[in-house]
Amino acid sequence: MVIVRTIKQMQEAKKGLFGSIGFVPTMGALHQGHLSLIQQARKENDHLVVSIFVNPTQFLEGEDLNAYPRKDEADIKICELTGVDILFMPTVDAMYEADELCIGAPAIRGYVLEGEKRPGHFDGMLQVVMKLLNLSGANRAYFGKKDAQQLALITQMVKNYFMDVTIVPCEIVRDEQGLALSSRNVYLKDDEKERALSLSRALKHATKMVMAGERDVASIKAQMLEVLSEADKVEYVAIVDRAFKALETVEIGNTIILVAAWVGKPRLIDNLWV
Ligand code: PAJ
Repeated sequence: MVIVRTIKQMQEAKKGLFGSIGFVPTMGALHQGHLSLIQQARKENDHLVVSIFVNPTQFLEGEDLNAYPRKDEADIKICELTGVDILFMPTVDAMYEADELCIGAPAIRGYVLEGEKRPGHFDGMLQVVMKLLNLSGANRAYFGKKDAQQLALITQMVKNYFMDVTIVPCEIVRDEQGLALSSRNVYLKDDEKERALSLSRALKHATKMVMAGERDVASIKAQMLEVLSEADKVEYVAIVDRAFKALETVEIGNTIILVAAWVGKPRLIDNLWV
């Protein structure tokens, strides 16, 4: 494995690769969720590029940019053990200049739910993902369904900008109790962890209702909110179609149920595809 820190080195390293390139962009503090993406990319491609970059432009004023968990040494070991060929770990200065050309998230899909609560977050996320996809030379890039709206926006960017890369959606990885893995889970204290389970419990409850024949979005959301009463503050419960348009009736095969809530210090998100 080579560790690459500058743009020039990355461009050079890529030139030596013949065959398909799989790419997994991350912000580090790698956990089993990241690992499942890395393992899938390893299996499906001749070469594997992973990036670790805590991207400042996708953090809003007052968010946890400076406190974001960093575990470079452990992350490098994990990448070595999982067969990563190129690990790209750039500095902020290498990635950005002062007055940049920017791309923006689309008006509707980019500014509901996460985009409404974190205005500008998706602009910064798309900006860095565009850079990383171009640099990596990826044929396939792997993203988790955990960040469902992020995945939808990246898929749209690739389509709108005619980018020659396949976006591969990957399943959400959870712990034994059902909590969706996230780098931010390290902020949870023991008693908070128990209450954090209310997100996945609410989603499980929604699945049960749908399996029992319930299709009415208002009824499902009302019961989910009851389960979520253990969270400190619920930011949203949403039931949308795969294009993130609000639904009144669940459409099997075309629905995503999403929750965002604060439990202790972290803001947690989770979702379920029906
Ligand atoms: P990060 O939060 O580090 O996540 C990197 C990738 O891992 C994303 O595609 C995310 O959806 C996926 N992931 C995280 N937790 C997961 C889980 N429990 N199960 C499955 N996949 C999971 O998302 C980002 O970084 C950044 O926004 C990035 C795309 C790197 C751009 O800066």
